[in-house]
Amino acid sequence: MGRDGYAGTGVGEFTPDGCSIELYQRLRPGAEPGIIAAHTPAGGTILELGCGAGRVTHALADLGFAVTAVDESAEMLAVVRGARTVRSSIEDLDLGETFDVVLLGSCLVHVPDPERARGLLAACVRHAGPGGVVLIQREGADWHDDVPRTSSRGDLEVTVVSSTEVRPGVRSVHVEYAYPDAGWSQTFLSRPLTKAAFEELLGENGLGVEAYLTPDETWVRASVMHP
Ligand SMILES: C[S@@+](CC[C@H](N)C(=O)[O-])C[C@H]1O[C@@H](n2cnc3c(N)ncnc32)[C@H](O)[C@@H]1O
Repeated sequence: MGRDGYAGTGVGEFTPDGCSIELYQRLRPGAEPGIIAAHTPAGGTILELGCGAGRVTHALADLGFAVTAVDESAEMLAVVRGARTVRSSIEDLDLGETFDVVLLGSCLVHVPDPERARGLLAACVRHAGPGGVVLIQREGADWHDDVPRTSSRGDLEVTVVSSTEVRPGVRSVHVEYAYPDAGWSQTFLSRPLTKAAFEELLGENGLGVEAYLTPDETWVRASVMHP
């Protein structure tokens, strides 16, 4: 059963937020493993929140990191290898341990409900510990303006078809993924955050931005502030 405002189309099973398990098994990692590796001590521990089918997990495990991969979808976790898997909502996760790096990718910080965003960030703080490192992926500056747009990754074409305001501050985004032999789509909700709003949200939740790691400022290194 999908969450309100979230849906997916195409063959196979879908997560509550509309991600296709089959699609995410096909998608290849981009620059993410390299960015994460550059901020994790060799052989260090990584907590990956919302790991999906292990697109990034597998590359990190292959690089020698000890990854704990968390997702609410049992179907996603069933295809993750080389990592400890934990089925849980991110908000409720409380493993009672800390990690060298906590990873909140896939722009999950843009969930529409600010209370849920706070829950996600609290889970990051809980598992990073004082001074701990949290790597967060956020949307780029023109993410919702430059629409429709299509990009190619090998034999995959990704089209952000539309981004429509559905209530103040919340947009419904529709994305299509086309391979020569199959296609999927996902509709999801996003709360755009300016850089200032993003930094304020982190600050309210005990996280300080240390650095923007990519020229488009979509990958951010934050650390847990001491009270
Ligand atoms: C867009 S997919 C991305 C997966 C992976 N991070 C990647 O980049 O390939 C998002 C994943 O996060 C999971 N997810 C989203 N919100 C979640 C939450 N609140 N708690 C646990 N899992 C969540 C979904 O089930 C899905 O597998």
